[in-house]
Amino acid sequence: MTHTAKMPIRLIFTIALAASALLSCRQAPKQAVSFDEVLASRRSIRDFDASKTISEADVRTLITAAQDAPSWTNSQPSRYYVAMSAEKVEAVREAIGERNSKSTEGAGVFIVSTFVKGQSGFRRDGTPVGETGDGWGAYDNGLSNAYLVLKARAMGFDTLIMGGRDADAIRSIFGIPQEEAVMAVIALGHRASDPKRPNRKPLDEIAKFL
Ligand SMILES: Cc1cc2nc3c(=O)[nH]c(=O)nc-3n(C[C@H](O)[C@H](O)[C@H](O)COP(=O)(O)O)c2cc1C
Repeated sequence: MTHTAKMPIRLIFTIALAASALLSCRQAPKQAVSFDEVLASRRSIRDFDASKTISEADVRTLITAAQDAPSWTNSQPSRYYVAMSAEKVEAVREAIGERNSKSTEGAGVFIVSTFVKGQSGFRRDGTPVGETGDGWGAYDNGLSNAYLVLKARAMGFDTLIMGGRDADAIRSIFGIPQEEAVMAVIALGHRASDPKRPNRKPLDEIAKFL
């Protein structure tokens, strides 16, 4: 075979190889993160990458996941207020104090969680079912938030739950009615570095098997 006759064969072979590589790349299944990996890699992040953003659609997905959480008689007392505009983000920063504001510098979104009082743990006539009262509303809100932060991790996002906030300031920023108790402010973004896992107590200190 002459040199000129060999060329097209080589070319066709190269194109076929490249095409099959491209196809196999496109067809490679997206590696889902296992639930254990989500649990193990979720950390309270205090060093966020400001160059990465999160869309409203993503936040809607997170809150939809939070709605899957169980609640007292399915009363679903949790409510969410999302600061995404520069103006609201700045206002929240001022309401969470200097330390938390510094920790969340690169986080572009703040999610405030509240719960409607007098629902979880209460009868229809408004009387509390037991001694826990609105503690059950706080419980339900914490469950919803756990779903939210774990879903965030599964989607590659990071969070910092903050109890250190001025509840009255948060209430006025978002116009939160008095019927709702202001709970956590959750910073949402992408981690800039991996923190160490804080120690946990020995299992037998927190659990009794009888
Ligand atoms: C209800 C609650 C309030 C918290 N408040 C703050 C806070 O105001 N500032 C902060 O930096 N971390 C806060 N944290 C994060 C905890 O310090 C953190 O969860 C704990 O140290 C364990 O670390 P880990 O989340 O990485 O496992 C809070 C966590 C919870 C659940």
